[in-house]
Amino acid sequence: MYVQELRLLDYRNITDQTLTFDPGVNVISGMNAQGKTNIIEALWLFSAFKSFRTAADRDFINHERDAAGLQARFVRHGREYTAKLKYYRDRRREIYINDIKMKPGEAVGNFLSVLFFPEHLNLVKSGPEQRRRFLDFALCQLRPGYLDALNRYNRILYQRNSLLKSPERAVGYDIGVWDEKLAAAGAEVYLQRLKYTERLLSHAAQTALQISEGAEQLGLVYRSCCSGAADRQEAERMLYDSVRAAYARDTACGFSTVGVHKDDLEICINGRPARAFGSQGQQRSAVLALKLAETEIIKEEYGEYPVLLFDDVFSELDSRRREYITGRIMGKQVIITACEDGGFESAAKVFRVEAGQAREV
Ligand SMILES: Nc1ncnc2c1ncn2[C@@H]1O[C@H](COP(=O)(O)OP(=O)(O)O)[C@@H](O)[C@H]1O
Ligand SMILES: [Mg+2]
Repeated sequence: MYVQELRLLDYRNITDQTLTFDPGVNVISGMNAQGKTNIIEALWLFSAFKSFRTAADRDFINHERDAAGLQARFVRHGREYTAKLKYYRDRRREIYINDIKMKPGEAVGNFLSVLFFPEHLNLVKSGPEQRRRFLDFALCQLRPGYLDALNRYNRILYQRNSLLKSPERAVGYDIGVWDEKLAAAGAEVYLQRLKYTERLLSHAAQTALQISEGAEQLGLVYRSCCSGAADRQEAERMLYDSVRAAYARDTACGFSTVGVHKDDLEICINGRPARAFGSQGQQRSAVLALKLAETEIIKEEYGEYPVLLFDDVFSELDSRRREYITGRIMGKQVIITACEDGGFESAAKVFRVEAGQAREV
């Protein structure tokens, strides 16, 4: 699939812009703080309906305005779609696909994209939270019901935590009820993340071997308080038991110390944790392999490649890894941002962004 056109109105530092993309490689170049990432973020919003940068939707609205509008025209399985997003300062955002108003859970899966941005380059070294976020973002796009389960889990967790923080408010509440609900939502999150990890590995292992010319065997282990559970029921029971057992400690800490919000995705190279033993190059190859695997899984699931959004990652890679990626992105639509325009012989279109204005060069 590919995006034909993106129209932005009062979106961050972009007042009124229409960008027309090529179905191949598109480069967005420009100096720092001009609006390159803003364009990538705008496209990403049509896939995830939330940003990879800010939590609050009102941040998208130009400081001087009260509303922002985004419109994307894209082609999927040969059919044209129009998606619209409207953000307001004083009310909830609205999502339209072909003029039909939708909730994020319904709209997800229409515009497919894979985002690769600088934070990903540190994925192996960074904390478990970033790795869970990686899985969560990928799963939200793949399994519309996943977002619901995750939101449910987080809501229950939040309520349980507020009871733990102020036990006087917990009088009359049975925390066991929250524990049951937490275990039910958590088991769903666990199972989806576990299945996705297995699927990721089946694609990424091959890529890791190719990048390293056979030297690096990638391994992925999803570590959870439910690890070892044979099925959903058992996962739910294990989660419930662990949460119950942690009650005294949780009360002392004032928050829930056990649950899928503490799980981790361990990335190994040749059987050893890459976090502790991998070189920076090896760690980056592992991440590349994961991002490309994410792309292949979407292709398997939806029958078409997603649009690849690469924000500022190319300049960070050495020439061998750049070459490898260049080979793998052939035949797909890619939108790449970079400080310089050089080095992209395969670019079909180059835009230059200056103070929120993009023009083709
Ligand atoms: N809501 C907003 N209103 C106006 N300008 C904004 C808003 N949010 C961000 N910006 C501006 O957008 C620019 C950052 O754009 P960004 O796309 O991150 O730059 P880069 O080209 O480095 O990727 C900054 O100049 C910032 O001040
Ligand atoms: Mg940027």
